[in-house]
Amino acid sequence: MSDEEYYMIEKQTITMHPIQTTGLILDIGGGGEGIIGRLNGRGVVAIDTRIEELAETKNDSIKIVMDANDLAFSPTSFDVATSFFSLMFIKNKNHQRVFEEIHGVLKSEGIFYIWDVRIPSRNLDKLIFGLPLKIYVPDQKIETGYGVGWDNKEQDFTYFKKLARRTSFDIITEWSKGEIFHLKLMKRVHNHQDKKNQTNDDRSRHVQCHG
Ligand SMILES: C[S@@+](CC[C@H](N)C(=O)[O-])C[C@H]1O[C@@H](n2cnc3c(N)ncnc32)[C@H](O)[C@@H]1O
Repeated sequence: MSDEEYYMIEKQTITMHPIQTTGLILDIGGGGEGIIGRLNGRGVVAIDTRIEELAETKNDSIKIVMDANDLAFSPTSFDVATSFFSLMFIKNKNHQRVFEEIHGVLKSEGIFYIWDVRIPSRNLDKLIFGLPLKIYVPDQKIETGYGVGWDNKEQDFTYFKKLARRTSFDIITEWSKGEIFHLKLMKRVHNHQDKKNQTNDDRSRHVQCHG
């Protein structure tokens, strides 16, 4: 791809720290720089559809070729899931499915951390949206760039917040800085219980009516 085909936004900067958990972390799209694997090492199961991306990473995570649209783990296997600039690489039409899959493999009140970028709708004659990124991890600075086909890729903070609520996540923390943003989501568990309780209530009401 020639430079003319890229729409590069200004360089964004992010500082990352190890994720505070004693449990297992599922990193979606964990190839490339493999930032989450660098931070949390063996506590991370990195999945990626591309074996070359996983082979490129230099960290101690467990690496598995797998599609986030179809997570082949038992339900409630993970305490934490992460997506570090990976949702931008997943087709918008598949985002809801991916959120549902992640919800399924997280434990009750499991946490889903998202770091991603605002992508405006394509309004220029450029094919690729490019994000230059400076990442500070403890004792290291990484300069990288993530580029993705720009068609049908518009996404922002509000878009993912809506998706989170629709797929039964609660929003715990959020921030945005320049063009990048972060969401900390928690798997909502009371929904199912509420439904169960409601069904029981309905039943008892029903019994009373006919009692
Ligand atoms: C460039 S990386 C993002 C940055 C990466 N998380 C890091 O730490 O450097 C995005 C990755 O998502 C992967 N990916 C795209 N679609 C995917 C999917 N449906 N399931 C899993 N991984 C996917 C891509 O192969 C790519 O390696």
